Parts: sequence; C-alpha cells; structure tokens
Amino acid sequence: MALNDILQGWIQRFLFDHDAREVFIMSGTESKTQQLLQRKNQAVARGIANSTNVFVEKASGAVITDVEGKEFLDFYAGVGVLNVGHCPEPVVKAVQQQADKLLHSFFAIAMYEPYVALAEKLNAIAPGSAVKKTMFANSGAEAVENAVKIARHATKKTGIISFECAFHGRTFMTMSLTSKVKPYKYGFGPFAPDVYKVPSAYCYRCHYRSSYPGCGLHCLENFERFFAAEIDAEHIAAMIIEPVQGEGGFLVPPPEFLPGLKSICQSKGILLIADEVQTGFGRTGKMFAIENWGVEPDLMTTAKSIAAGVPLSAVTGKAEYMDAPDAGNIGGTYGGNPLACVAGLETIKFIEDNHLCSRAAEIGQKTMTRLKALQERCPAIGDVRGLGAMIGIELVKDRETKEPAKELTGKVVKYCLEQGVMLISAGIFSNVIRLLIPLVVTDEQLDRGLTVLEQSILRAAAEE
Ligand SMILES: Cc1ncc(COP(=O)(O)O)c(C=O)c1O
Repeated sequence: MALNDILQGWIQRFLFDHDAREVFIMSGTESKTQQLLQRKNQAVARGIANSTNVFVEKASGAVITDVEGKEFLDFYAGVGVLNVGHCPEPVVKAVQQQADKLLHSFFAIAMYEPYVALAEKLNAIAPGSAVKKTMFANSGAEAVENAVKIARHATKKTGIISFECAFHGRTFMTMSLTSKVKPYKYGFGPFAPDVYKVPSAYCYRCHYRSSYPGCGLHCLENFERFFAAEIDAEHIAAMIIEPVQGEGGFLVPPPEFLPGLKSICQSKGILLIADEVQTGFGRTGKMFAIENWGVEPDLMTTAKSIAAGVPLSAVTGKAEYMDAPDAGNIGGTYGGNPLACVAGLETIKFIEDNHLCSRAAEIGQKTMTRLKALQERCPAIGDVRGLGAMIGIELVKDRETKEPAKELTGKVVKYCLEQGVMLISAGIFSNVIRLLIPLVVTDEQLDRGLTVLEQSILRAAAEE
C-alpha cells in the first residue's frame, strides 16, 4: 500500500471514527485495535458483522479486558453462553487436563467416558420423570436440526410448527423455523418445506390485539382454527418453542401458555420440543426454563451455557423418541468432542455447587426492581419483562402507539459501551435491550452496570 493511501485512511479514521480517535489520542500512535480492525476488514467476510470495535485480550468472571487494557463489564455473557462467567477455573483445568490425554477419536468409532458421563448427567437433570437419552452436536442450530430429524423418525410425520419471533439458528431448517427476516433470512430462500408458523404469546404486542388476562388466550385457541384452516394436526411431527423467546425480544409467555401447548401436543400426537439453547443452565432461575411452568418436553435442545464457551450442543429427550433413529442415522465428526464434554461436566457442576439458579433469581429480582422504577420516570420504556436473569427492556417512541424505538436502542447500547458496559439488543424490531448478565457477577458489578444502563437510557431518551 502506498504511503499516501495509508495516510489518507489514517486521517479519515481520525476525523470520522470516534473510537479510533480516542484510542489514538490516548496512545499517540495507531492502536492495536486499529491495526486489528484493518486486518479483520481485509481478511474476514463482510457478513461476519461486529456490533463493537472491541478486540478481547482476556476475560474473567463478568469482566472483559480488551487489547488496549480497557476493562468492560460483560452484560451479554457471550450471548447467553457464559452463565458461569468467563474462564471458570474448574472448567479451564478440566479442558487442559483432557487436552493432554485425548483431543479427538470420533465417538462413533472409538468411544470415551466423558461423552457417556455428560449424557448421564443431562438425562438426570432434564425436566420431568420419563427415562431420557442424549446425543451431542456442536452448535445450537445443529441440535435443533437433530431434534427435528428425531421427531420425524419417531412420529413418521413431517410437519413442524414454530412460532413468530422465534430464533432457532442459521442452517436451512433452523432458518426456516426462525421468524426474523433481516438479517437472518433475507436473500437466503427458498426455505425448508413443511414448516408452519403460528403467533407467539407476545403479550405486549398481542397478535390479536387483546390483553392478558382477559384475552382468553387466543394464541392457544387459535390452534383449533389453524388445524382446520392450515394443516391437519395428523401431519405434524413436532412443535418447537423457546420457553422464553430470546432473539425475538425476551418474551415470557403467560402461565397458561406452555402447559396449554403441551396438552394440545398430547391430544394430537405431536412432540413438544423445548429449545433451551439460550434459556438453559440456570439463566431463568431454574436449570431449564420450561421447569418454571412444570412442563416436561418430549425433546429438549441445549447449547450455549452448556460448556462455558467450548462448542457443544445436545438433544436430550424421552428415550422412546431418542432411540427412534436407526444406528448411524444421527451424529457427526465433532459432536460431543472430549474437550467439550469435560467442559460440560464441570460447567454443570459449577452451576450446582455455586447455586447459580438461585443467584439468577436474585439478580433478576434486583434488576427488575430498578428497571421498573426507571420505567415510571422514563416514557421511552414501554415494557420491562423477564424471567430470572433473562430480562428485556422494550423501548418505544410513544407508549400509546408502541412505535418501536430502534435508533434509541442502538444509542443506549453505544452509551453503555462508552462507559464500559457491554450489552446487546434483540427483538423483531431491534428495540429491546437484552440483559444476559453472567450469574457470577458480584453485587458491586451488578449495581455499577445497572447504574450505567439507567443513565444511558435516560441520556438517550432525553436526546430524542
Ligand atoms: C433459542 C436458540 N436456538 C438456537 C440457536 C442457534 O445456536 P447456534 O448459534 O449455536 O447455532 C440460538 C442462538 O442464539 C438460540 O438462541
């Protein structure tokens, strides 16, 4: 690159990129972040977008340190992956010890104990009393793909029902089950056939313009009409739902909804798949979110916080369904890799030993109390909702019209980052601040982070 080009780019960034300017002023030379950004832009595909310019050097508990040495409070937990915080010691040690012994053998060819031990553990802690079995994969999407395959084999039916506002992944089947067009589906069709969408229990923006509890739960009642007008229930293999919809905006359904779905499924011979990829492992105050409603799913998908950041996912379900596929029908090269399985075992032990389910409830209560109080004096906050430590703040331009405030939400995220708190947004209109605080956060960190969040919301709202 000619010297002139380098200088031009440098001046450009100095004039227009606030972060670059700050880092330059601090260091007096092009920062490590700037150098990495430049390399990233040249080497990494544009579709792999970044919501911040932060390059992480290391992280511990609820604190991320970037390559400039600046610390951030992590209020997004690697998007729900780090319920146990960054680099918990027992997990790191177990991975290191396993790395010395065995990295890979392919479980379908030569087996190893951690795979079996983690399957036993998941079978034991999965909701409900039915005998369970487990299989492992690598990502949340892959777990959902496998759950659909298992449900189809078990029922000998093919139709799958999913819900508006759902997010189940980025592969073709999971994208088809997903219900947010941009950026997840736009330009990627055609999608998998035999997938049917129904309205979800998004009470703040009810599809039927009703309000709970006087609504009579149209979202459940609708199924009778749906099975008459859209598709015969006898054709449907499974219904898949996130007990609390995550990417769709942290939507907590009313008490009757999930038990109601379960009884519809039971009466029609449809399997209920709980997608616990984001809600699992203590996040909502229970090990799995669906336990908050006392519902036993037929199949359950898990990933994210299962192994503290080591790639792993699982399908756990009633043995009769899990055993439906024939030998070799399911699996994959890396699924249930030894490193991931020991990480999973130690992660679950860490959650249990440190009582992180009750800590999630505590974090949730404290956070809810503060945010509800803020809502009283800040009209931009349309709704605050959540379960345990999975909390969403829906921002609106007007409380009456509920017009989504996407730009305002972006500003809040930006102001938080500037003050050292990292968090992200969600929602089909991208107007929900989502809080996924690591469950190992200290009280001081929680208070500090919430103060930054409150100030950022007030500042952004005042500028509107
Ligand atoms: C509920 C749910 N299901 C599936 C997925 C897909 O997981 P992955 O990104 O690991 O494929 C996600 C990811 O955010 C999720 O939240």
